[in-house]
Amino acid sequence: MTTAQPLDVQPSPLALLLLGREADPRSERGVECPGDLPAPSDPDLVERARAAKARLGDKVFVLGHHYQRDEVIEFADVTGDSFKLARDAAARPGAEYIVFCGVHFMAESADILTGDDQQVVLPDLAAGCSMADMATAEQVAECWDVLTDAGVAGTTVPVSYMNSSADIKAFTGKHGGTICTSSNAERALKWAFAQGEKVLFLPDQHLGRNTAVRDLGLSLDDCVLYNPHKPGGGLTADELRAAKVILWRGHCSVHGRFSLESVRDVRERIPGVNVLVHPECRHEVVAAADLVGSTEYIIKTLEAAPAGSKWAIGTELNLVRRLANRFADEAAGNKEIVFLDKTVCFCSTMNRIDLPHLVWALESLADGKVVNRIEVDPEVAAFSKLALERMLALP
Ligand code: 13P
Ligand code: SF4
Repeated sequence: MTTAQPLDVQPSPLALLLLGREADPRSERGVECPGDLPAPSDPDLVERARAAKARLGDKVFVLGHHYQRDEVIEFADVTGDSFKLARDAAARPGAEYIVFCGVHFMAESADILTGDDQQVVLPDLAAGCSMADMATAEQVAECWDVLTDAGVAGTTVPVSYMNSSADIKAFTGKHGGTICTSSNAERALKWAFAQGEKVLFLPDQHLGRNTAVRDLGLSLDDCVLYNPHKPGGGLTADELRAAKVILWRGHCSVHGRFSLESVRDVRERIPGVNVLVHPECRHEVVAAADLVGSTEYIIKTLEAAPAGSKWAIGTELNLVRRLANRFADEAAGNKEIVFLDKTVCFCSTMNRIDLPHLVWALESLADGKVVNRIEVDPEVAAFSKLALERMLALP
């Protein structure tokens, strides 16, 4: 008879990542928090956040992206989209610590645009972005080789969405390209076509396609989709030569959920509703919407909307809920604002930043300990900055 040996069961690296522990060196996903977080049930969390911020005074500047939870937004010194927040950080040279309540690529951009003596902190390192992770430096370098072999690299200008890693921004800077955001993508594409014949748009196929077709008047056939998981991107050299816009096969897992069906359904449910969506949504959704624009545009449109108007919004739920509450009462215009989809959809990585992580980050800083610092390699930062500066100088 054999005796059962105790099983030495170790969780697999994937299981650890899914549990939000340990690091994937190639992305920001699944990184264990190095400290003791306060319990989410701690009734003193709000008071602790206030006290830690007060102890830090002007040394700290807290940035909150529009998709953050209410409990976090409450402690933000400024709110905005990714571009505005990076600029706001750069405009605060006096703040020793920038606490970025957003996702990893935003904290990287803030580090690139702020002074060497400023330290950027991301309260939870697992707050990544699935779209940014869809384009790695190796994949993009391979794509450039494919374009070179097809004889088109010399006439192609890369345009990368802000929602990309610093490595991709550096690639863009090195190859004469620019960064864009959802509010200046049209200007960025026009600029790029003045520099070359083709655009390689990374990593969001939807923003690239929507801008090329809606704003620049190109046809869907002018755009091809480069799939980094297929040899040669799944395209022939002739297809690459004929294309005007080479779209990277990436997407946002939140905005990609909205469908043409959700637009039709809300129009049926709410007669007279205005459908307003983010350009990260699929092309058919954007084509069926009444208005399309960045998060800042969505907020401004709702602020200016007439009293009693009805809106279905296709963007992240934290923002839509906050806007619905803000304009719900009579004094604010009784504007009816609903989420475009029937099923709830937060950005899960944005939601990683919660009050316990924020309290932990602020208290650590107040105790003189810098945690979760985001520091971009100097060479990567230099080329990324070049691409970001081209964006700032866009005509
Ligand atoms: P903006 O903040 O540029 O509107 O982008 C939306 C988004 O998905 C951020 O992650
Ligand atoms: Fe990334 Fe989409 Fe989340 Fe923005 S909303 S952080 S693009 S996954």
